[in-house]
Amino acid sequence: MSRRSLSSPSPSPLPNIKRPRLDGLSADDYKNGVMLAPMVRSGALPTRLFALKHGAKLVWGPEMVDKAMLNSERVVDPVSGTISYNGKHERAMFTCHPIEKPYLIFQVGSADPDLAVQAARLVVDDVSGVELNCGCPKPFSTHSGMGAALLTNPDLLCSILTALRRDLPPRISVSAKIRLLPTQQDTLALVERIVNTGVNCLTIHCRTRNMRPRERALVHRLKEIVDFVKGLGRDVAVIENGDCVGYEDARRIRAITGADSVMIATAAEANPTIFSPHPLTNLEDTFILPYLRLCKYLDNHWASTKFCISQFKGRKTANKTLRNAIIKAKGYADLDALVKNWTGSDEFAAVKAAIDARGTAPPILLPAKDDTISSPSPASQLPPKSSEDTVSTPPGWRGNPDPAVVHDAPLLPANEHRILVPAGISKRDPGTPTPLALPPRPEPAPAPNAPLPVM
Ligand SMILES: Cc1cc2nc3c(=O)[nH]c(=O)nc-3n(C[C@H](O)[C@H](O)[C@H](O)COP(=O)(O)O)c2cc1C
Repeated sequence: MSRRSLSSPSPSPLPNIKRPRLDGLSADDYKNGVMLAPMVRSGALPTRLFALKHGAKLVWGPEMVDKAMLNSERVVDPVSGTISYNGKHERAMFTCHPIEKPYLIFQVGSADPDLAVQAARLVVDDVSGVELNCGCPKPFSTHSGMGAALLTNPDLLCSILTALRRDLPPRISVSAKIRLLPTQQDTLALVERIVNTGVNCLTIHCRTRNMRPRERALVHRLKEIVDFVKGLGRDVAVIENGDCVGYEDARRIRAITGADSVMIATAAEANPTIFSPHPLTNLEDTFILPYLRLCKYLDNHWASTKFCISQFKGRKTANKTLRNAIIKAKGYADLDALVKNWTGSDEFAAVKAAIDARGTAPPILLPAKDDTISSPSPASQLPPKSSEDTVSTPPGWRGNPDPAVVHDAPLLPANEHRILVPAGISKRDPGTPTPLALPPRPEPAPAPNAPLPVM
């Protein structure tokens, strides 16, 4: 039976949980960081906490659809303090914890200003920022006008952001996450409108709506957009998203784009410690057990725990006994014989200590001015072939109406074509996080001479 039984209409401080000072997030808080991207399923609470422990500056929760949130009930776990927004049959839809609150952004999927505000109001005491998802290309989102459908409905998009900014408390930051539009001109026009709604931050996933996750992000298009936003004179942070594989890569991407920060999804799904300049490299021996223990402590839904662990990339053969036991287990209790005497409280204490220490020892951020990276590596930049290429999607763009749909839900398929931080390459001391040499990335495929797409 779940421990999550304390129904609470309003947040109540829990014993032993020091509530941080809450002044809200400003645009500056979105700068110089490597951020954990919003990820349905993979952006679970334990993953976010480990990302914070290993240096993510801010973390995003998975997209929650406004209407689903409106029917949820807020429940607090009396043991761990985990807060769950439960839907039908007490199923936790969104789960968070007070220790992540100063760094947590709640992402809402919406096509209606009133519903978006109502959904956001439910969680404002548990998060520091609210973001509108304007990038999800799945029919699940777009058929009802949400996600990437908002990119071609800027009036609606901006009316939602305006309503969020107007109706939420000032301490709650408001942000948007968009994709590139096929042309740079249209992208800049949209960006200007978004910036003028009063958002604190804009994340730009450097792919267009119709690009597949395996296609290289169009990072080279961002510099002009960043300069444009800076030129508007509003204090709005711009975050790059797309194809970043870790801290060092984030520095390189920032050197190319001038973005204030960099956000990582797929690579963090495979290794939630890659925000650190010294990520764990041997997840089998150093990470999976602590992750399991923290999940148990937080009463994370077993199916979610199992799924997230299955996404960790490592030498899955390295700790076959544990991997097989996890695959077979139907719940935490099935692992008792193997893990022994586990409550997860030590792991929680370690994560909490690391997060609490941010007051005096902040995570290693991206340097505000990075003079050590002079010329961007061509490997992470798709150089424009002509001046026209800087203002449009590449000729190879196929103009397919929508990306491949694997699920009837906003879940993106794991992308085996991406270059991920190899989590299991090191045999070094499992207790000592070791620096990782990133593998060279493959050269981009030559673009075919196809005509430019029209959208
Ligand atoms: C498993 C998974 C789930 C995702 N869920 C969301 C989501 O809820 N909201 C969102 O805006 N983007 C979502 N995305 C997209 C990512 O946030 C990100 O924009 C995209 O993966 C590109 O970043 P990357 O190249 O680092 O993977 C998801 C991606 C993955 C891999």
